[in-house]
Amino acid sequence: MMIYFSSPKDQYLSHKKDINEAIAKVLDSGWYILGNEVKCFEREFAAYIGVSHAFGVGSGTEALHIALKACNIGPGDEVITVSHTAVATVSAITLCGASPVFVDIEPDYFAMDTEKLEALISPRTKAVIPVHIYGQPANMAKVISVAQKHNIFVIEDCAQAHGAEYKNRKAGSFGDISCYSFYPTKNLGAVGDGGAVLTNNEELATRVKLLREYGWAERYISYIDGWNSRLDEIQAAILRIKLNFLDDDNGKRRKIAGIYAGLQSCTNITLPEVRPDANHVYHLYVIKLQERDKLLNYLKDHGIGTLIHYPVPVHLQRAYLMKFRGSDNLPVTERTAKEILSLPIYPELEDEQVEKVVEVIKQYYV
Ligand SMILES: Cc1ncc(COP(=O)(O)O)c(C=O)c1O
Repeated sequence: MMIYFSSPKDQYLSHKKDINEAIAKVLDSGWYILGNEVKCFEREFAAYIGVSHAFGVGSGTEALHIALKACNIGPGDEVITVSHTAVATVSAITLCGASPVFVDIEPDYFAMDTEKLEALISPRTKAVIPVHIYGQPANMAKVISVAQKHNIFVIEDCAQAHGAEYKNRKAGSFGDISCYSFYPTKNLGAVGDGGAVLTNNEELATRVKLLREYGWAERYISYIDGWNSRLDEIQAAILRIKLNFLDDDNGKRRKIAGIYAGLQSCTNITLPEVRPDANHVYHLYVIKLQERDKLLNYLKDHGIGTLIHYPVPVHLQRAYLMKFRGSDNLPVTERTAKEILSLPIYPELEDEQVEKVVEVIKQYYV
């Protein structure tokens, strides 16, 4: 029995009839870009997260790019974030012409070490991007208090945290603006690229709306220098269906995490910890261990897919080797990249498959 690391096709099959009907409805409507489906999805997703505005955009990377531009961030500005993230968090910053500044991560929750945040703030700092990595929120209480003290924007990267909560509020409702990806394997995934930008701030909302469509305030008349980054009607129609199942699906992910907790008896492995007051949605189930590659290969030989999120921190990748501030002081980030391993976790994974992964890992240690 092969156990795949992820299987977006299985999710399509779970909702095949509804999805096929929704696609047919869009095709028959003849309206394919920024129509009723996008409008309804934006309203429903904003209500789900608990903010007043949502805008569908082309991808998670685009969501971050637009959010930064909406905050008027550009050349000469600095944005503090983590190096232990998808490269998109950082590339969105450089795309604006701004400079990323890297802060180290917490060893237990893998998110921004907010105790080290304030020391990195300079007169050029315009924003901070906490990443809710693997599906649980960063320490937002601390992020918000530091940001307010220094009057900088908080841009939440929620690409891995659809439905996650901190102190009973959804990730994405804390900052000035927040960014989602709907890449197919995300907790809320499209069948292509997609993303969203959310905010409670009217001024930022106006700018986001303009930026995603050529800066148009009315057709063919650009008020600001925007471009094209739109969610399409088919993706929005599919996301509307899947949004109804997001809480259930996150519950299934938590149940799988509960089965993986059986690995506690393997004392060589550190299991993921849940931050107090957080509701983890387990986009990824990431364990830590020494000699990680040996277990990875053993699992591969037993038909079990794993991945590493991420094998090389962004500041050590060839594209980003230029010395961004903070790059020389990321010991936890650098150590973590060598020790982490992501096990399969998605709603359609059967209990027996998860139990099999646990059993194979236990066998490895006897
Ligand atoms: C933390 C994080 N930020 C940003 C992105 C970028 O999203 P997208 O792939 O939709 O551009 C991703 C997805 O890979 C992500 O995991």
